[in-house]
Amino acid sequence: MTVSSPVAKKRSDYQTPDFLISHVDMVFHLDVENTRVITTSQITRNGQHDRPLVLDGESIKLISLTLNEDPIHDYTVNDEQLSIQTSANTFTLCVETEINPRENKTLEGLYFSAGAYCTQCEAEGFRKITYFLDRPDVLAKYDVTIFADKARYPHLLSNGNQIGKGQLDDGRHWVKWQDPFNKPSYLFALVAGDFDLLSDHFITQSGRNVVLELYVDKGALDKGHHAIASLKKAMAWDEKVFGLEYDLDIYMVVAVDFFNMGAMENKGLNVFNSKFVLADAQSATDDDFFNIEAVIGHEYFHNWTGNRVTCRDWFQLSLKEGLTVFRDQQFSADMSSPVFNRIKNVQIIREHQFAEDASAMAHPIRPEEVIEMNNFYTVTVYDKGAEVIRMMHTLLGADGFRKGIDLYFERFDGQAVTCDDFVQAMQDATHVDLSHFRLWYSQSGTPKVTVTDTFEQSSGRYTLTITQSTPPTADQAQKGALHIPFKFELLDQQGAIIYDDSVPELKAKMVELTQAKHEISVSGLSEKPTPSLLLNFSAPVKVEYPYSHQQLSHIILHSSDEFSRWDASQSLYSRCIHSLATTPDSPDEELFDSMLVAVSGMFDLADSNPALAAAMLSVPSFETLSQQVDEIHVEALYHAQRSIRNLMATSLSEKWLALYNKQIIGSYQYNADDVDKRRLRNLSLSYLVQGDAPQASKLLSAQFASADNMTDSLGVLKAAQYGPVAQFDNLMVQFEERWRRDPLVLDKWFALHANMERSDILARLPLLLSHEKFSLDNPNRVRSVLGSFAFYNVLGFHAIDGSGYRFLADYILKLNSVNPQVAARIITPLTQWQKFDDTRQELMRYQLARIADCKTLSKDLIEKVSKSLN
Ligand code: ARG
Ligand code: ZN
Repeated sequence: MTVSSPVAKKRSDYQTPDFLISHVDMVFHLDVENTRVITTSQITRNGQHDRPLVLDGESIKLISLTLNEDPIHDYTVNDEQLSIQTSANTFTLCVETEINPRENKTLEGLYFSAGAYCTQCEAEGFRKITYFLDRPDVLAKYDVTIFADKARYPHLLSNGNQIGKGQLDDGRHWVKWQDPFNKPSYLFALVAGDFDLLSDHFITQSGRNVVLELYVDKGALDKGHHAIASLKKAMAWDEKVFGLEYDLDIYMVVAVDFFNMGAMENKGLNVFNSKFVLADAQSATDDDFFNIEAVIGHEYFHNWTGNRVTCRDWFQLSLKEGLTVFRDQQFSADMSSPVFNRIKNVQIIREHQFAEDASAMAHPIRPEEVIEMNNFYTVTVYDKGAEVIRMMHTLLGADGFRKGIDLYFERFDGQAVTCDDFVQAMQDATHVDLSHFRLWYSQSGTPKVTVTDTFEQSSGRYTLTITQSTPPTADQAQKGALHIPFKFELLDQQGAIIYDDSVPELKAKMVELTQAKHEISVSGLSEKPTPSLLLNFSAPVKVEYPYSHQQLSHIILHSSDEFSRWDASQSLYSRCIHSLATTPDSPDEELFDSMLVAVSGMFDLADSNPALAAAMLSVPSFETLSQQVDEIHVEALYHAQRSIRNLMATSLSEKWLALYNKQIIGSYQYNADDVDKRRLRNLSLSYLVQGDAPQASKLLSAQFASADNMTDSLGVLKAAQYGPVAQFDNLMVQFEERWRRDPLVLDKWFALHANMERSDILARLPLLLSHEKFSLDNPNRVRSVLGSFAFYNVLGFHAIDGSGYRFLADYILKLNSVNPQVAARIITPLTQWQKFDDTRQELMRYQLARIADCKTLSKDLIEKVSKSLN
C-alpha cells in the first residue's frame, strides 16, 4: 500500500526571498467568528527581477487588497497563495482578511478557546492570519492595534511595548503595541482575554528595570509565583554564564489551557501551556516544579538564541532549538543536581531519539526534506541537536564555547542564519577545526562505538581498540565516520584512575574519534584495567564493550564520573533483564546475585548522594531496553523487567523499608534536599508494594492520608499500580473526587488510568474518553489519555489481538479533522513498528494503512504514514 504524498520541500532548494518587508502595521478587530485583520506592509523588491509577489495564506478570506492605496485587480488566489503581478519596486500593500477563531481547532494561527484569543505562529501559522511572506528570513518591525470588547477582554496584548490605548462608545477598547526589534512572522503574538495578572520586575546587569508580567486564569494567581521566580533566575543566569541581557522593558508570559506544545518564545510575549506555568505544593509535583523552571528558562533563552539571531529557513530549526535546549539543560543543572539532570537528558535520547533513528521518520538534526514542518519539532532536532552543541562545548571547552557564542552574536545579531554559520563562528573564534564535525548536521542515525581490549601480561601493555560505524537509516543508506569526542578512563583493581602522561588521550580522558578505527596503548601496567567508557555520555552513541558483571560493579563503585556510575548500574540491570527474557527457565543466579550485591551497596549512597542513589536504584525503562535489542519480544521483555524489579523488591525488602522510614521531611518545600528525599521515599514505597511487603498497604493509605503535596499523593498512586487493583481503584476514586475541578491534576489522573496494566484496559479506555472532562479539542487531555496509552502502556498498546493499535488508529482518524498536529504526534508509537515481531508489525501496518485510506488526511499525517508504510 502506498500513499501519494504532497510534494516535499528540500533544503537544497533554498532561494532568497523575492521581496522584503521592512515594516508591518496590523489592526485586529476581534470577534469570535468574524475577526477582521488589516495588514499594511512596506515592501521592496529584493534584487532585479520581474517575478510576482507571492504571499502565503491558508484558511482565510480575502476581503480587500490595495497597492499604494489603489485597488489591485491583477492577482490570483488559491488555497495556499496569493500572487500579485506588479512592476513597483517599493510599495505599500494593504491586505484585509477575515478569520474565524472559534472554528479554528488546530490551535495554529489565531484561535479562540476557554474564553480567550491566542495565537501560535511557529512554524507557519502566521499565514492563517493574513497573506504574508511567512518565512523566517523576512524580518520586519511590527505595530499592532487590537480592538475588542472591554468587559470580556480587558487585556489586549502583543509583542513589544504598549504605545497607546483608548476607549470607544460601543463598549470596545483598543491597545496599540510596537515592537522595536525586527522579527520574523513566526514570532508574532496576540492575546486577548480576562486574566489575573502577577507583576514583578528584574534589574538587569546594566541597571535597566524590566517589568515582568504573568497572565493566568482568573483565580490562579497563587500558582504563578514559581514561574516568576524561575524567570528571574533564568535572566540572571544568562547574564552570568553568557553575558546576555534582556533587551525590552517588558517581558510577558501568558498561560493558556489549550496549547499544542509546551510553550512559545514570541518576542516579549511568551505563550505557555498552563502545565508549564501553574504550580503549588498541593497540585504540582516536584517534576512539575522542575519542568516549569526548565521551560521558562528555555523560552527566555530563545530571546537571544532564536529571536535576536533566528533561522534562515526551517531546515535550520536546530540552530535555535538544539542550542536553546543545551542552554536550558545547563541552566537546570546549575539550579539543581548536575548528575540527575544529565541522566534525564540521556534517558530522553535513549528512549525516544534512538527509537526515532530506528524508524521510518529518521532524519538528521538538520533535515533535508520536509512535507509538514510541524512534524520536525522532534527529539532529533531538539535533543540530539542539543547533544551536538554539547559535543562542541566538550571539544572547545567552556571558555572556547563562550568565545564562539560571543562571535556568533557579534556577527549575526539581527539576522536569519544557518547551522553552518553557527559552526563557523565556533571554529573562527577558537581555531579548532570543525570541518569534519559538521557531518553531525547532515548524517542521521545512531552511531555505534565498539570497544575491545587486550592485555599482555609479560609487557604490561594494554591496548584499547575503538571502532565506529553508523547503521543505515530509512532516509540515508551511506554513512561516514563522525568526529566523536569519546571520554573514558581506566580503573585499576583498587578502583584508582590510571594516569600516564605519555599517553595524551589518557591525560585528556578523551579520544577524538575521527576515523573508523582507533587504537590507544598504555604500557607498564601490572594488571588488566577496567575501562569506563563514554563518561558523562560525551556523544549520542551506543557503546559496546564485553563487560563482565564484576567490571560493571567495579565502575559503579569507583568511576570518577557519577554519570558513568549510574550508567554501569543500568548496564547491569539491562544484562539481568535481557538474560531473563531470553532464558526465563534457567535464570543466571550468579549474575543476579552479583547484581543484588551491587544494589545493596547503592543504599549506602542514599545519605551522601541521594540524587545518584535514587537514579541508580531505578531500572531501565521498557523503552530504553527496547533500543538495546534487534527484535523486541514484548511479553518476555516486559515480564523480565518486572521480575528483576520484583527480585530487587523482595530480596531487599528490609532495606527498602528502612530507606522509606529514614526520609524525614518537613512541610512541603521545593528544594533540592527535600526533592531527593521524596524521590527516595516514593521509590522505596513502590518497591515495597511490588515486593508485596506486609506493611505496603498500610503505608500506602497512611501516606495518601497525610500527604501535604502532590508528589507524595501521586507517589502513592504510582506505587499502588503494582498492588491489588481494588486498592488502586479506591484511591483513584478519592483522588478524582478531590481534584475533578483542577484540569492539570485531572490530566495526571487520566494518565494513570491509561497506563494501568490490567487485562480490561481496552474496555476501560472508552470510559475515560466519555468522561465529562475529556475533550478531543484539548491537547493536554488527548496526550494524557491517548498519548500515555500509546507511548507507555506496553501490554495494552501491544496487545497481540491488535486491539490497542486499532483503538489508537480510531482516535487518530477522529483527531485528524480536529487537530492534525496533535494527531501526528501521538501516531509516533504506531510508526515505530520496525523492531517488533512479524505479527505485530503486520497489525501495526494494517492500522497505518487504514489511516492512509482516509480521503481527507492532513499533510501532517500523510507525511508520517506514507513514510512508515514504504
Ligand atoms: N519554539 C517552541 C519551543 O521552543 C516550540 C514551537 C513548536 N511548534 C510547533 N509547530 N510544533 O519550544
Ligand atoms: Zn525552543
